[in-house]
Amino acid sequence: MCGAQPIILPTAASEGFRLTAEHLAAGFRLAKSPKWVILNAPGNPSGSLYSETDLQALAEVLRQYPEVMILSDDIYAEIRFNQEPYQTLASVAPDLAERILIVDGVSKAYAMTGWRVGWGCGSRSLISAMTTVQSQNCTQTSTLSQLAAVAALEGPRDFLAERNAIYRQRRDAALHVLQASDKMEVSRPEGAFYLLPQIKTSIDDQSLALDLLEVGVATVAGSAFGLPRHLRLSFATDEATLVEGCTRLVRALEAYS
Ligand SMILES: Cc1ncc(COP(=O)(O)O)c(C=O)c1O
Repeated sequence: MCGAQPIILPTAASEGFRLTAEHLAAGFRLAKSPKWVILNAPGNPSGSLYSETDLQALAEVLRQYPEVMILSDDIYAEIRFNQEPYQTLASVAPDLAERILIVDGVSKAYAMTGWRVGWGCGSRSLISAMTTVQSQNCTQTSTLSQLAAVAALEGPRDFLAERNAIYRQRRDAALHVLQASDKMEVSRPEGAFYLLPQIKTSIDDQSLALDLLEVGVATVAGSAFGLPRHLRLSFATDEATLVEGCTRLVRALEAYS
């Protein structure tokens, strides 16, 4: 929309699909006039989290480019499967806070996708510029949706831990089925609600995603995320449906060499 040219930085399964300081620095060397860096953790589609050390290393690189803004997409922050406190760039490197825009919303933790409410937390000047653009748009977030989001954020939060326990159980149930197959390799995500198996058969991921629709299983081809030979599976559904879907996927893969 703004004429910017995205530079997609590579991540690798061996590094838990985390952006490394080396790759970030290489990206800056490629960019003619870098404006924004976009970070997302827990990641869609990888479910990866960053440790304080990982974020410190990224902050070190970002300090060398003081004109660059950072969008920190923390929308899956509440969906994590370990007991560690959540680390985000703004808390680990408060000196960068003026340059960071945190984006979040009620779609994930509160399962309120249809209400269409998200928000940004950033410096006064940035939020003021965003408000100028937003106020001239012809679509806005309805008052009803905003009130629903306030109720979600101000209401009891103990269900978040309960939800995470259920997500963890679903993740493990799905992994149990998938890891029994020798036609894929899949790691255990630390957050969000996606599995990202690497497919070890001859079929390409886009054809496989289409074939799977024939057996009633909806996935997203990894190519959509720059990861050919992978599939993204969502475990934001009940366990019985999930296990059935994974069983069908495993069975379907048997047809390919
Ligand atoms: C990483 C990430 N950020 C933001 C969003 C935006 O969600 P919504 O448009 O429902 O607020 C999504 C939704 O899939 C997402 O995966």
